[in-house]
Parts: sequence; structure tokens; C-alpha cells
Amino acid sequence: MVTKVLMVCLGNICRSPLAEGILQSKVNSESVFVDSAGTGGYHIGSLPDRRSMAVGLKYNIDISNQRCRQFRSQDFKDFDLIYVMDQSNYDDVIALATNDEEMAKVRLLLDEIDSDINEVPDPYYDDDGFEYVFRLIDEACEIIAKKIKEN
Ligand code: 4NP
Repeated sequence: MVTKVLMVCLGNICRSPLAEGILQSKVNSESVFVDSAGTGGYHIGSLPDRRSMAVGLKYNIDISNQRCRQFRSQDFKDFDLIYVMDQSNYDDVIALATNDEEMAKVRLLLDEIDSDINEVPDPYYDDDGFEYVFRLIDEACEIIAKKIKEN
């Protein structure tokens, strides 16, 4: 069985594209499918932010094949796990859920790690934030990949 994981942020150009690329790099693509989406529709069809592409490449993760898309209700049916980057993403996604089963698929990414914070900060207005965001996402994805392998 293929486990399907969706990574969600606001714009789908900074955080969730990195989360998609990082998790995909840690799992076997035959058993895990990873995608990402944004709750907002500002950048549909765009490449990831150049700063996300740069920090990814620094760690050998190429996300330049990705294009921005918006989260849609059908994603609740198409994915097993939906990881959101912050509380605002959580609220926006949960608002579209129609039953408990859909709601139960939605989790804060940083709830997977033992951390003082539970939100991946939005680095869009902070050039220096991308390295920090990469490390937070990487730590969480390491645990997610391990859990999926154990199941
Ligand atoms: P992301 O960052 O949610 O990590 O992709 C953002 C990118 C763009 C905008 C907001 C957040 N924006 O408002 O355009």
C-alpha cells in the first residue's frame, strides 16, 4: 500500500515545497507519495521561492520540479496524512473538512518533534529564516519517515 502525505502551508512556495522535497528524499517513492499545496491561491503555477530552492540544493534536495497549487477538499480523500506548518494553516484546512475522519488526518508538522515551538515560522519576509525552517522541517520529516517505515 502506498502512504500518501500532503504538506500544506499558506503560499506553497516556501515551507511546504521544502517539506515535500525533504520527506520524499527520506522515503522509498514506491511506498510513499508526497505532494504539497497552499491554503492561499496567490502563487498558483509558480516555482518554489528561489530561497527555498537554494537552501534545498545546499542539502542536495532539488525542488525545482514543483509547481504551486492550492489545497482543495478532494485532498482529504486523496491523502492519508495532511501536515500543516502553522496554526493558521491548521484552521484553514480544518474549516474545509466535512467529517471526523477528514479532521483526524490533519496534524501540525512540529507536533512530531520535541520542540519549544509548534509552528514552522513563515520565512517569506525573512531572508535568514530559510536555513532554520529547513532544519525544523528536516527533523520532523526524519521522524515521519521512520514512522511510515515501521507501519
Ligand atoms: P509559505 O510562505 O506559506 O511558506 O509558502 C508564504 C509565501 C507567500 C506568501 C505568504 C507566505 N504570500 O503572502 O504571498
